[in-house]
Amino acid sequence: MTQVENTPEKEQYNEVAVRTSEALEQARRAIRNELAGVERTREQLFPPFNRAGLGVALEYERMGNRPVSAGLQARAEEHGFEFEHLGITIGTVIHGIDLRRADVPEQTQFIRDVLLERKVIFFREQNLEEDEQVNFARSFGDLDAFPFGPTGENPYVLEIRHGRGYPGMENGWHTDVTWMETPSLGSIAQCIAVPPMGGDTLFSDSHACYLGLPSELKKRVEHLSGINDYRNFLMQRGPKDLPDELVDQIKEEIPFGVSHPLLRTHPETGKTGLYIHGGFLRHDSLYDARTDEQLDAEDSRAIVRELLQQHARPEYTCRFPWAQGSIAFWDNRAVQHYAASDYHPHKRVLRRVTVSGDKPFYAPEQ
Ligand SMILES: [Fe+2]
Repeated sequence: MTQVENTPEKEQYNEVAVRTSEALEQARRAIRNELAGVERTREQLFPPFNRAGLGVALEYERMGNRPVSAGLQARAEEHGFEFEHLGITIGTVIHGIDLRRADVPEQTQFIRDVLLERKVIFFREQNLEEDEQVNFARSFGDLDAFPFGPTGENPYVLEIRHGRGYPGMENGWHTDVTWMETPSLGSIAQCIAVPPMGGDTLFSDSHACYLGLPSELKKRVEHLSGINDYRNFLMQRGPKDLPDELVDQIKEEIPFGVSHPLLRTHPETGKTGLYIHGGFLRHDSLYDARTDEQLDAEDSRAIVRELLQQHARPEYTCRFPWAQGSIAFWDNRAVQHYAASDYHPHKRVLRRVTVSGDKPFYAPEQ
């Protein structure tokens, strides 16, 4: 038989709950009236022990509390392009654009400006040939070939291929190629084969991440730098090591161990971002860039551990589900990314081209 009424015990509890709710609401209304007209700061609105929401709110405020500037919105409308924003401070799909028109300077400038404001941008149904993708990338600057992975027909294309027996390995928060002295400005990846489910890439806003750090930690890391290298690419996952002569030759020709600051000033927007790659950074290598003083190894590791958690907070992220022919263009100076490895044994193939960047530096914001 279906029960139609609460038990007496439940009734008693609910009476107390309703009475409590009314009393609390009355007390809160009195407080609100007392404080009416007193504007609370962003810092006061978010609890000090949980600053993720604050980081996003501060970054959004700096963007004028709108996802793109009015000027950019007007230009999009003029060209007949449409924005689909994925997060409030990060990630926008641009609809109605054909990337084969890489020779139209106005379109290239528009894409560049959206990238600067939105940090990572996406395009659907482009299906570019390798050379077309390289051409598109080239309209944003010089290109970096990738020495540690298989190229496509075109040497500037890196093929990221996973399937049965080769699960995705890009599932750690990172920004690309920090083992380079001048890491790539941006990466442009196109999806060639998509798994039936999963395989999304997540992006995290390094500027909001920085703004959301606890104040003491911000201060603690302000002038710290660390050493990055490509040791991961020299380690074989199989039973046999790479030949010593080959490893020696690579280390001789490509600098092994370069220094980068933990906080990076974006060279175009001037914003400070948290800049770190957990796989390439030597976790015990932090030092004060002003004095060259090395941190105690355990302190260094503890700071890296704490910083590495920051980008993973969902508040800072947006998530892009791939489809064949989709393209993502991310600014390595403004975001980190993470490719979810949740599709094995299915196949997932991306083709990536990288645009050259400059040497990371830190200059305090005014
Ligand atoms: Fe990557």
